[in-house]
Amino acid sequence: MRKDVRILLVGEPKVGKTSLIMSLVSEEFPDEVPLRAEEITIPADVTPERVPTHIVDYSEAEQSDEQLYQEISKVGMDLVSLFIQFSLILCHWIPLINERTDKDSRLPLILVGNKSDLVEHSSMETILPIMNQYSEIETCVECSAKNLKNISELFYYAQKAVLHPTGPLYSPEEKE
Ligand code: GTP
Ligand code: MG
Repeated sequence: MRKDVRILLVGEPKVGKTSLIMSLVSEEFPDEVPLRAEEITIPADVTPERVPTHIVDYSEAEQSDEQLYQEISKVGMDLVSLFIQFSLILCHWIPLINERTDKDSRLPLILVGNKSDLVEHSSMETILPIMNQYSEIETCVECSAKNLKNISELFYYAQKAVLHPTGPLYSPEEKE
């Protein structure tokens, strides 16, 4: 049995990473948040998959690139999932993560579109071609820290992505 799940939230500044963590923990939207949340550990008995789950925040304003790379490689060892905001994923975040993880260990990614309370239309149409291009993207979720919409689901999907990765149905490069 897997002993731990580590979830690292990365993405552009101000997309709501810290707010998502705080909303999950307190079950209400925090008006004020620090730049970076302390690492939290959710005990096994209150998670749906019964595995202790660590949630790690990232803030560009507080952390150097070096510290980010360290967090990404830690995730690599533990098998972790990363949350990325929709914007800039293609040109920035996915290549950055891939460069820093072992080619053989497929790191499950979840794309997160936060602040769904502010948008009228779903962005799923824009995101589907991206998901098809990158097999490491396990799923994508639209959520709102403000309305508490899909927050616990989001962290549940992340746990599931680590514990029961679906993987690509067909991947020609992965033949042994
Ligand atoms: P950095 O730490 O600077 O990288 O930012 P962050 O990604 O942690 O974002 P943060 O949680 O600090 O939120 C940035 C702003 O967005 C704050 O003013 C939040 O109140 C607001 N915000 C966060 N989530 C939501 C949401 O779901 N809906 C709305 N309307 N605002 C949100
Ligand atoms: Mg933050």
